Parts: sequence; structure tokens; C-alpha cells
Amino acid sequence: ALISLRQLLDHAAENSYGMPAFNVNNMEQIHAIMQAADACNSPVILQGSAGARSYAGEPFLRHLVLAAVEMYPHIPIVMHQDHGSEPAVCFRSIQSGFSSVMMDGSLMADAKTPSSYEYNVETTRKVVELAHACGVSVEGELGCLGSLETGMMGEEDGHGAEGVLDHSMLLTDPEEAADFVRKTGVDALAIAIGTSHGAYKFTKKPTGNVLRIDRVKEIHARIPTVHLVMHGSSSVPEDWLEIINNYGGDMGQTYGVPVSEIVEGIKHGVRKVNIDTDLRMASTGAIRKHLHDNKANFDPRKFLKEATGAMKGICQDRFEAFGCAGMA
Ligand code: G3H
Ligand code: 13P
Ligand code: ZN
Repeated sequence: ALISLRQLLDHAAENSYGMPAFNVNNMEQIHAIMQAADACNSPVILQGSAGARSYAGEPFLRHLVLAAVEMYPHIPIVMHQDHGSEPAVCFRSIQSGFSSVMMDGSLMADAKTPSSYEYNVETTRKVVELAHACGVSVEGELGCLGSLETGMMGEEDGHGAEGVLDHSMLLTDPEEAADFVRKTGVDALAIAIGTSHGAYKFTKKPTGNVLRIDRVKEIHARIPTVHLVMHGSSSVPEDWLEIINNYGGDMGQTYGVPVSEIVEGIKHGVRKVNIDTDLRMASTGAIRKHLHDNKANFDPRKFLKEATGAMKGICQDRFEAFGCAGMA
């Protein structure tokens, strides 16, 4: 059944687990997530970015999620709109049936320029007012995601940053978080604690702590009833990176967020963990390998099935590690 983000994350808080929120763009990703959830009895968050909506078309994306709801009636599913760049985007999603929306007011509508605190409060507050009247949950964001080493925002290809941020924006201020929640009424809050979007998060293999878990604790202590969200939480699997590069790919050496650190975050109030890159890598690796090993094949179902299986493996690992397996 379709449920709201608030309903699911309240249950997660009561039972001390975290939820991976996987980005989806096509049928294979949704198949993979649902097969994994079914196998380990986990609830599911399916989220569509602006890129996903323009790739598939909003009606296709929505109907794919509704197909999952129909096919797996025993699994609670949240249909979430990821990174809304302005209130109108969220309103459109609410109207079309999403059970949860993110208003990312940490950036201006161009999704690149950091915004003022007042702009963030005002745009987010507007979305909460309307969404709550419709029974839809809202995620806000305070602080900007970027590398704590370089201040750079997420890079898609590892060659050229989208923008460099002021260091003070890279960590969410706990006092400001409390004020933001009071003024906006958000159900969930994305925070900046050292993660960044995309595959190129860390240049060296993380040994100690790469995330500021101390900050998670401080924020959670101030706003215990608001569910914390970690964006940029892909672990950038080393085995899939190797497969991609061994079968004709050319990705640079890079490291993601260790699953153990995410689990530490979940112990201290993180309830939603956004993952996109990991499924992209598993899918690409599996397709490259299949086509290399089966040069005569020209039936896309054969390599898409490999991609689905590879993504399913990652999903099941995360459901089990984050404690949501068995919670459906
Ligand atoms: O928030 C970023 C997600 O990875 C979505 O990426 O806009 O390329 O779909 P996308
Ligand atoms: P990754 O790029 O680490 O997968 O993060 C995805 C994300 O935060 C989507 O909102
Ligand atoms: Zn994100």
C-alpha cells in the first residue's frame, strides 16, 4: 500500500531502524528494489528526481511505482519526490499523487546557487502548509552538500565541480535546525554532515570516521521528533567499480560512505538514507560484463535481467544493514 513518509519514518524511529531511499528512473530499478524488499520483508521508499521525471516522463514514473504497489500489496511503499527546486514542483507532485515531497530550499531554483536562510524557511513553509492539508509529508534541507575537503558540490563525472561552497554551509547548524523546524513544520530534514552527491565523494579509502556523527547527535538532541535524512549516501562499491573498469569502463578511483558509518548515523537519529549512485554502478557493471561475455546477444532482456539482479543484491544488503528487513 502507498503510505506517507511520516508514517514510515515514525515506525522506523519507534523501532530504531533506517530506510534506504532509492532513486528510480525505470522499470528495472523498481523491479530490483521490490524483489529485494519482498525477499527480506522490508518497507520501501521509491524516489524520483527531476532528472528521473524528465527521463521517464512523470506519468510513466508514477505508473511504474503504482504498478509496484499493485504487485506487492503486502509491502508499504512511499512515493517520494526528490529535490524539488521550487514550491510549484512540489505542488504538481502532490496533485499527481506522490505521498511525500522534498522541498530543497537550501539552493535557489537553479539547483546550483546556495540560498539565504530566509528564502529556505519561506519556500519550505509554503510547501508544508499545502502538503499537510493533503496528507503528504515534506522533507526539507538545511545546509549544502559538498566535500568537507574541497568544498565542492557533487560531481557527476569526477572532472569538474559544479560549484564551490563556503565552508560554513557544509555542516548543518543544530541551533538553526531547531529554528527551521519550528518555522516550517517539516516531517524530515536533510542535513549536511560530510556527504556529497555522486560517485566522487572521497579520494582516499576511508579509514576512520568520514562523517560528522557528532553533528548528527547534536541535531537529533535538538529536534528529536524530526526524522533526519542523509543524502549522498552511496557506498560506491569497490567490486562494481572494478567490474566496470575491467569490462571496458573508465571510472576514476573513488570511495563512498562506508555502510558502517551509515549504521552509526542510524543509531543517532538518521531515518532516511538516499542512494542512487550504487544502483547505477551495479547496473552498468552487470551490463558491461554481460555484453562482454555474450557478444552474440542482442536481446536487451538478457542484459537488463543481469542489471536487475545486480541492483537487487545491493538493495538487499542495505535493507539488512539498516535494520528495516522484517519491518514490512
Ligand atoms: O540527487 C541526486 C540524485 O542522484 C538524482 O540524480 O538528477 O541525475 O537523476 P539525477
Ligand atoms: P548518491 O549520489 O550518493 O547515491 O546520493 C543520492 C541522493 O542523495 C539522491 O537525493
Ligand atoms: Zn540528494
